Amino acid sequence: MSVKVAVLTSGGDAPGMNAAIRAVIRSGLAYDFQMFAIFEGFRGIIENKIVSADRTFVSEIIMRGGTILKTARFPEFYQEETLKKAAENLKFYGITHLIVIGGDGSYRGAYALSKHGIKVIGIPATIDNDVMGTEQTIGFDTALNTITEAVDKLRDTSSSHHRCSIIEVMGNRYGDLALYSGTACGVDLIISPEHRPSEEEIIETLKNINLNRARHALVIVSEKQFEDLNDLKDRIIKETGFDAKIEVLGRLQRGGSPSASDRVLAGRLGVYAVDLIANGIDNVCVGLINGRLRHMPIQATTKSTNPNLEELINVIDKLK
Ligand code: F6P
Repeated sequence: MSVKVAVLTSGGDAPGMNAAIRAVIRSGLAYDFQMFAIFEGFRGIIENKIVSADRTFVSEIIMRGGTILKTARFPEFYQEETLKKAAENLKFYGITHLIVIGGDGSYRGAYALSKHGIKVIGIPATIDNDVMGTEQTIGFDTALNTITEAVDKLRDTSSSHHRCSIIEVMGNRYGDLALYSGTACGVDLIISPEHRPSEEEIIETLKNINLNRARHALVIVSEKQFEDLNDLKDRIIKETGFDAKIEVLGRLQRGGSPSASDRVLAGRLGVYAVDLIANGIDNVCVGLINGRLRHMPIQATTKSTNPNLEELINVIDKLK
């Protein structure tokens, strides 16, 4: 029986998803697998947005941001009836394997589907770098570069106005984006789940920076750290001598052409995922562990520790 493999992207989009789709389709075709693409994530399975994909389907996309397959968040997918219908639809096309490119939520959807007889493989793609089974996700490097460019620009205006810029970056429940971008930009303070000064310490640090006649201050804060960032801003204005502005970088962090590093990572992980299928291995997620391609069961639930994070926090503390 011929192997029929479908690919979809799911969850928040990430730069490099297209490069991963390309790698999956082309390496699958090289194995003579019949390749399919599904539009709009898991919802597309239910709505039969499934097409056959050849080499040219993925031409000219390696450098494009977003995902040509579109993506969706689809929490209803977990209902048994929906999962059953999804498996039936895939089986109707003879699809035996599904490659899911996305974050941990997408992995949970894939695992649920695997219980209905579809073999699944997860490829980690999200700007947050918060997926199990890998120390780096596709999209993280590009987002980091986008943030770095934005913060460099904010530094110009912030220093012209004797201001404290409080820059909120994404990351969901993890601080990889904040810690890496804060280090890359040499900011004055980083506030993330892993590096969380108290509000008193934040005010004290900024007061001292002002007393030392610094022209401005840059603070990077991970999203979801404060109920209302405006309260912190008001305290900074009242107690430190700086004017303060909040800059939420938002979804622009998810856009743009993928960096060379993300394209290469996407190519490696995409080809590796298909190699596993060719070797009869499934229901796993792929990733980089200690810089090497690895796979583990897709139902594992904890984020892989980024081995550089602890060392990075030490660097941040030394460069204060
Ligand atoms: O998971 C990627 C991410 O960009 C997170 O950093 C952020 O918390 C979330 O998605 C926002 O999702 P949405 O665009 O669906 O609101």
